[in-house]
Amino acid sequence: METVSVKDVGRHEGEEIQLKGWIHTKREKGKIAFVVMRDGSGFIQIVLEQEKLEPEQWNQLHEASLESSIIVRGLAKSEPRAPGGYEIHASFLEVFHTTKDWPLGRKEHGIEFLEDNRHLWIRSKRESAILRIRNTIENAMIQFLSDNGFYRFDTPIITTAAAEGTTTLFEVDYHGDKAYLSQSGQLYAEAGAMALGKVYTFGPTFRAEKSKTRRHLLEFWMIEPEAAWFQYEDNLQLQEQFVTYIVKRVLSENEADLSILERPLEPLQKVEPPFPRITYTDAVDLLKKNGFDVQWGDDLGSPEETFLANYFDKPVFLTHFPAKIKAFYMQPDPENPDVVLAADLLAPEGYGEIIGGSERIHDYDLLLQKMKEFNLNEEQYQWYLDLRRYGSVPHSGFGIGLERTVAWICKLDHIRETIPFPRMLHKLTP
Ligand code: 4AD
Ligand code: MG
Repeated sequence: METVSVKDVGRHEGEEIQLKGWIHTKREKGKIAFVVMRDGSGFIQIVLEQEKLEPEQWNQLHEASLESSIIVRGLAKSEPRAPGGYEIHASFLEVFHTTKDWPLGRKEHGIEFLEDNRHLWIRSKRESAILRIRNTIENAMIQFLSDNGFYRFDTPIITTAAAEGTTTLFEVDYHGDKAYLSQSGQLYAEAGAMALGKVYTFGPTFRAEKSKTRRHLLEFWMIEPEAAWFQYEDNLQLQEQFVTYIVKRVLSENEADLSILERPLEPLQKVEPPFPRITYTDAVDLLKKNGFDVQWGDDLGSPEETFLANYFDKPVFLTHFPAKIKAFYMQPDPENPDVVLAADLLAPEGYGEIIGGSERIHDYDLLLQKMKEFNLNEEQYQWYLDLRRYGSVPHSGFGIGLERTVAWICKLDHIRETIPFPRMLHKLTP
């Protein structure tokens, strides 16, 4: 007998079907038992009557505690009162493996206990909903870029040069040579854009962050589009369409998961281009007026970002940062070279930065001068300078942090729940 996924049960109403999964909850009432079973795709209620099962099967059910693995056959019936709208009236049950003491039972557990049991915690209703939404977001990102003519271009994880500053590099011993885990695939994606026009890289990136915050992981996934001939404005418009597409896909594909998370939908439904924009300079004035102690030239911290992200009810572009607080490769604004043609996209509801992007310097002499100002080892960047030696063109790109995006769309308090196995300060297992 073919096995049906819980999410597809509706298509088999009135049929005798087989499901395979795990016991999520169990309630016994004399000669009848109600099991909510999960199979990863969803949850469904199974009604089991003693008289319809073999005595052996009924006993197995009695012994099995939460998270025992089971195979069920029965009639799929519409039941408006059941979660999901369907239930199964069982005619057969096999407890494939009996769980004795499920460590994550009903009672409230502290976060440390849950983190230590992350390999089990991901089975919970809430965590699995988040991970299904993450899956939709990843698919949507790839689909959008593919539909818009971007080629996937995979960049190395082991690298020799810093892309995003030298303070957060993870060092690797490369058989005696010094190497680093990639902080960003961008510099290589720029080479890709000169070869293929429009590319994106999507992979894990690493930052040896020393602080413990609800927004930082030491290993996170980033998707980085990069396009030849794209200028600052093209880049921002692409981001608006991209983020809007992602949110719409989640709204249409993960209704049940958003409801498990009790995620209010209205703020997501508002996400439509154009997004508001505010320059760094205006943002500093706004912050000062609201009692923040910031000066022009300061890097804005979490509280400042949270304020700005709450001030607007859509994602907002924070633009034209002082050159000296941003990366070496950013194109100065021709109207004011103290600021760069860069923008961060801040997610609303207090979430803050989910995207960092910019137009890149395409002039050889200017790039070299910037590298000197930033004290970079020129030797390591000769291949990168080659991109400005041979047919250089204006180009732009951005990087969106997958986990920050998941945290916002799911409205989570902490980034630790957005990835199957988070890597955080002093947290390396499981
Ligand atoms: O702003 P960042 O550092 O930009 C870059 O890496 C550029 N090279 C991107 C580009 O233009 N191609 O990082 C981009 C995004 C941030 O906006 C944030 O969403 C995410 O990556 N990010 C992190 N996410 C989780 N934990 C961390 N420690 C992160 N650091 C950055
Ligand atoms: Mg940034």
